[in-house]
Amino acid sequence: MADFDLIIIGAGPGGYVCAIRAAQLGLKVAVAEGRETLGGTCLNVGCIPSKALLHATHSLHEAEVNFEKMGLTAKTKVDWAKMLSYKDEVIGQNTGGIEFLFKKNKVTWLKGWATITAPGEVKVGDDTHTAKSVVIASGSEPSPLPGVAVDEKVIVTSTDALALPKVPKEMAVIGAGVIGLELGSVYARLGVRVTVVEYLDAITPGMDAEVARTLQRYLKRQGIDFVLGAAVQGAAVKGGKATLSYKLKKDGSEHDLTADCVLVATGRRPYTQGVVDAALTLALTKRGQIETDARFQTSIPGVYAIGDVREGAMLAHKAEDEGVALAEMLAGKAGHVDYDLIPSVIYTTPEVASVGRTEEQLKAEGRAYRAGKFNFMGNGRAKAMFAGDGFVKLLVDKETDRILGCHIIGPSAGELIHEICVAMEFGASAEDIARTCHAHPTLSEAVREAALACGDGAIHS
Ligand code: NAI
Repeated sequence: MADFDLIIIGAGPGGYVCAIRAAQLGLKVAVAEGRETLGGTCLNVGCIPSKALLHATHSLHEAEVNFEKMGLTAKTKVDWAKMLSYKDEVIGQNTGGIEFLFKKNKVTWLKGWATITAPGEVKVGDDTHTAKSVVIASGSEPSPLPGVAVDEKVIVTSTDALALPKVPKEMAVIGAGVIGLELGSVYARLGVRVTVVEYLDAITPGMDAEVARTLQRYLKRQGIDFVLGAAVQGAAVKGGKATLSYKLKKDGSEHDLTADCVLVATGRRPYTQGVVDAALTLALTKRGQIETDARFQTSIPGVYAIGDVREGAMLAHKAEDEGVALAEMLAGKAGHVDYDLIPSVIYTTPEVASVGRTEEQLKAEGRAYRAGKFNFMGNGRAKAMFAGDGFVKLLVDKETDRILGCHIIGPSAGELIHEICVAMEFGASAEDIARTCHAHPTLSEAVREAALACGDGAIHS
């Protein structure tokens, strides 16, 4: 008899959520995790710590820029060490919370790095454990960039950037993706001169182009400089400073950029090192992701993979949904993930959130659509918060009015988007949103107004 019904490798959002759901459904579950704390990249060195620093520096910005307008006086002073310990406290509360949930749900934590040695057999440290099913949820790691060697001091990854010993004067960020813009925002708000160097001609690849252009304009206004269409060639460190060399694609001209910190934020890659014994064949895609079928089954019988190690968006909530779906399938239920409706959020100020199709995708598909747009400037609540920048854009099928996508740049966009996620999950039309009473005064009214704009017109624009 196997020791466990299920052993999961990795206690990030994919692994720990899968474990809890499987335990709730009556399975005997263990999770192997080699880190000192549970929660994976997201809780330890990703989503949660970056949100703590974003919150702290946003508060600083509010105090410095908006307090005076409201008749408030505040003296601000940045104590970086204290800000980092606040961030660490937030991490501790969250990782400790997962430990509590493991105990509550009787999930065993196998402490140590795990290797699958045979189907149904997992070695953690010196001990070998058996299970009916094994799940690889080992996540991802920052992708290296050729010619730019990370030394964790001057040239850093996002992990290092969450705990720099001191605030640098100038920061060069390679990559205008989610990590580059979120962490770039943190440091720009602390007075750091931030320059983002991006290979493509626009920021945030894949995002609705109108939103991307608007976000870039707002971030520029906040003091972040952008060099777009620039291929980074290499970086050299001398005397505590890095010189970044890049080539502009438009004319091939070469340039240097000097900074006392370079953040490499050019994407992440699946982390599979040592997870499976070399004697076993784990099929990988060309991009190094673990190949799985629709039920998350890998090439090794009884071994499954979820989250960043397999295909799809590298997002904590996508991993969580896969964890829940797989747990349900293993417990004999019908789990599912709707990959068309996974929202994505960038936690800059203003926030950006989207779900479903972009205008560019709809055009490429030749689909007839209508766009309804509403600016936050017409929303009373947003104006009271000095948060009138941005808009809600709803994209609907021209014939049926069914919602196809939504793109929000503005206050609390990451919260507002879920109304549309639910609506789309139920196959709703813009008229369904427009006819639903929305409380006043709320930011959510902007979503309703965008829905009205898909029909006869918004009220407040
Ligand atoms: P990303 O894939 O979002 O962006 C990387 C950027 O780097 C791209 O714009 C790319 O064109 C650029 N780039 C690549 N090579 C380059 C070069 N040689 N020179 C200049 N630019 C170059 O990757 P990122 O921001 O590192 O994030 C990694 C993963 O983590 C993503 O999948 C992201 O979705 C996820 N993440 C999600 C967050 C959220 O949901 N809020 C927060 C942080 C990370």
